[in-house]
Amino acid sequence: MSPSPSAAAKKTQQKQMIAVHLPNTQGHPILPQVNVGTLPQPWDTIGRHAGLPSLSHDDRARLDNIAHLNHFLSQVVVPNMQAEYETAGKVAFANSNNREPATRDETRAVLENTLQYRVWSRLRRGSMEQRQRIVADAVESKADAIAQSCVALVAEAGNLELDPNLKLPAYLTDTHAHLMPGGYTAQRAANDVSAGAMYEIGLYSTVPGRSGPNSDGAGRAISNWLKTNYPDLKPKRVFDLGCGAGLNTVAMAKALPDTEIIGIDAAAPMLRYAAARAHAMGVTNVRFVQADIEHIPERLGQADIAFTCIVLHETSHEAVKNIFKGCHERLVPGGLTLHVEQPPYEGKPLFEQVMRDWDGRYNNEAFWSGLYALDLADELAQAGFTKDKVFSDFVSAVPWRSDATVKGKVEDYGRTGNWKVYGATKN
Ligand SMILES: C[S@@+](CC[C@H](N)C(=O)[O-])C[C@H]1O[C@@H](n2cnc3c(N)ncnc32)[C@H](O)[C@@H]1O
Repeated sequence: MSPSPSAAAKKTQQKQMIAVHLPNTQGHPILPQVNVGTLPQPWDTIGRHAGLPSLSHDDRARLDNIAHLNHFLSQVVVPNMQAEYETAGKVAFANSNNREPATRDETRAVLENTLQYRVWSRLRRGSMEQRQRIVADAVESKADAIAQSCVALVAEAGNLELDPNLKLPAYLTDTHAHLMPGGYTAQRAANDVSAGAMYEIGLYSTVPGRSGPNSDGAGRAISNWLKTNYPDLKPKRVFDLGCGAGLNTVAMAKALPDTEIIGIDAAAPMLRYAAARAHAMGVTNVRFVQADIEHIPERLGQADIAFTCIVLHETSHEAVKNIFKGCHERLVPGGLTLHVEQPPYEGKPLFEQVMRDWDGRYNNEAFWSGLYALDLADELAQAGFTKDKVFSDFVSAVPWRSDATVKGKVEDYGRTGNWKVYGATKN
């Protein structure tokens, strides 16, 4: 039997262990934080409608696995990574530079030198690749059947206008946002709806479920914001620019049942799915039109409200200018434009900026970093809205959580649905 170690030997042993596990901490212990928060919703809680493709048991289980991985990354890994950055990372930087990291690039360089960031980043990218592979496999294998059931719904509703001659913007065809195979515009079958179906099914597992069963938290947030801030507004017509699968379009249509809602998007597979889905959900005051939102077709008339919801970061700076100009031109006098995006980087702590900027570097979001560095209020003023009519506000699209930035709550850098809305009224 070996003799039990003395108190001094135990201390040395402990130090060695710390030295082995945390070689860069220079005496700052990193305490494991295990705050698992509210566990992700299972994929099975997604809102069902006649256009939604059914998934096999195995695919549902794979998507749930991704939701739990994302949850673990944001709730457990990120707080530890931040602790490592604030201690070991900053100390190492200060040792060579005699100051703290002062820019986003310097902060990223420090983080990329830590094991936790590297593992987190690889797993996050991997979780996105897996999500897209699972939904693409599930949808592609039955693309024809899903298309046919959607065609029948759309024929019944007559709520879709496609333009086969539309020239698609290069930023949609050449980059496939958030690693979506083929992007929004790929056609996999006659009357294809796969992109729309993949978007709805996959988003639910990434968020996961936090935006409500119909993934329409943003649409509900905008309509609630309107009720609070413009209680007397009775819009006749609303443009939802870049409406995608119509998730938030339907939420707006339900909130404004007496308003004509026009969802406009360039991607036919998204629109066919959106139109089928809206009809399957019993919504009749909405129609979907294929067009480039940089040039809203004149035949659609003037609108009382023109909004984008998480669209601008997938375009380009020139497109943002054109979209804002188009909103100004196509609103009635007194009309309102609203643009919902993640908060801009300006004024945020550098660690948070790097975390939010991850998608711009590793998630195929080509214009992400550029958009969040822009001052959208200034862009609106340049597009013709007078400065005194431009405003900004925050909206939360997580129905069960009014403010995820409350002290003590773990921020999820883009997944918590705390968004900024930029807007303006036309003179
Ligand atoms: C991230 S999705 C957002 C969809 C929707 N607004 C929502 O909240 O679910 C972006 C959508 O914008 C569309 N889009 C981007 N640029 C566009 C353009 N110039 N013209 C028409 N649609 C565009 C894409 O096709 C895609 O469906």
